[in-house]
Amino acid sequence: MNNAPWWKTEVVYQIYPRSFADANGDGVGDLQGIRSRLDYLEWLGIKVLWLSPVFSSPMADFGYDVSDYCDIDPTFGTLADMDELIADCHRRGMRLMLDWVPNHTSEEHPWFEESRADRTNQKADWYVWRDEPANNWLGSFREGSSAWDYDEQRGQWYLHCFLSEQPDLNWDNPDVEAAMHDTLRFWLDRGVDGFRMDVVHLIGKDLELDDPPVAAERGISHVPFNDVAVTHQRLRGIRAVLDGYPGERTSVGEVYLLDEAAMAAYYGDGDELHLSFNFSFLWAKWNAAGLRNKIVNTLSHLESRNAWPTWVLSNHDVPRHRQRYGGAEADARVAAVMLLTLPGTPFMYQGEELGLVDAAVDPATQLDPGGRDGCRAPLAWTAEPHHGWGRDPWLPFAPESETRNVATLRADPGSILHLYRELLALRHSHAALNIGAFEMINSADNVLAYTRTLGDQRVVVVLNLGDEICTVPELLHAPRLCSTGESATEADSSDKVSAHAAVIALLA
Ligand code: NOJ
Repeated sequence: MNNAPWWKTEVVYQIYPRSFADANGDGVGDLQGIRSRLDYLEWLGIKVLWLSPVFSSPMADFGYDVSDYCDIDPTFGTLADMDELIADCHRRGMRLMLDWVPNHTSEEHPWFEESRADRTNQKADWYVWRDEPANNWLGSFREGSSAWDYDEQRGQWYLHCFLSEQPDLNWDNPDVEAAMHDTLRFWLDRGVDGFRMDVVHLIGKDLELDDPPVAAERGISHVPFNDVAVTHQRLRGIRAVLDGYPGERTSVGEVYLLDEAAMAAYYGDGDELHLSFNFSFLWAKWNAAGLRNKIVNTLSHLESRNAWPTWVLSNHDVPRHRQRYGGAEADARVAAVMLLTLPGTPFMYQGEELGLVDAAVDPATQLDPGGRDGCRAPLAWTAEPHHGWGRDPWLPFAPESETRNVATLRADPGSILHLYRELLALRHSHAALNIGAFEMINSADNVLAYTRTLGDQRVVVVLNLGDEICTVPELLHAPRLCSTGESATEADSSDKVSAHAAVIALLA
């Protein structure tokens, strides 16, 4: 029915492997665990997986500090396990994306060990070394700390936009660029379908540019301020590597710029990223006016470049959206309808289909230096005390895991899990929801309403974020495809939507 590439029509499901499923019973998730749960993902209607990093790593940043891009950390398994996972996914018609970390390595990467040894070795210029800090940039996670550290061994300062254990690579050196392209080819040759690219807007930097005073005043790291022209040239190089392979191998960039216009530029003219995350939308508050504004603004910047939007509400770095939006499950259901009906590629984060909020983690026992343990709680598979994990996992479970687990919610056709499944199925049966044109409908204050149209298929979506029942004339006699509210107000003959509820209906 349509020839749109898979990265435009499918929903991507993010797996945080440490917390997804544990096959070897050590309390940390692994690749065989993921393989053992592919049936579940298929049942849910997921066709594309993105795994947070599983490469060799000392785990200072739980895998975002890579010490070998071309091997699997024993925590997660082996290269053979990864080959099996890729083959299993492909057999089921699923795709697998990995998380590529191009801005920095681990300090234990052999490249850095060589680079820091002295100022004349072959990799002396593979990282960013200076006789003194070149600017006022702050690093992430350790509040207010400089992005520059002094290295005794080499007698110079090195740049790290994140932890000291994560030195930034020097992409100005063509040998670094070539070596990083090789790491992509290593996985493309093994069959992976694409990459989420970690803070990819940082691979070009202008060290002369100090961050604005507000950064230092508020202790904000350099990351959201870095936006320089040379990065675009480097993204074109990366795109050329991907385009050298068949099958629409895809890039989705973590462009952590909180401005839609700046973010949109990273798609280039269709020759840079295939997709970019949109953090301005992720951080929008749960009210219709604010969301409408972000959606319209995003679409206008992307449309002018013929670029395809993405929509993300939760990931492994931020408090889960149900929690950010106030905690009511009814609102999490409305958010699910929004995520899966906006025009673009939605990204789900494991566990949002269970309506999870964050686990409560005592700051004294936090494991992550960035304080992100709560949203990384292990997925509860069953109602039993260990929820399918064999023993206590590495982090505590999210609240209500006795009931908010896969087995219990799967057995309840009215659960939020079934709502996600229904929405994913609707996207597959109604192409208008994937690639149809989008039009906003004027609506009451705390209501978002829009249509999606493809040929003669016209679907209307109404999200009532408010406390009152709302009336949307377009809904009158429009057969309901999905509704999260009370049935009395949501009969096909009605033009109403309950408070804190969403409706999808077919227009004549
Ligand atoms: C963004 C990743 O999502 C986050 O988890 C990580 O800590 C930083 N980049 C550094 O790699």
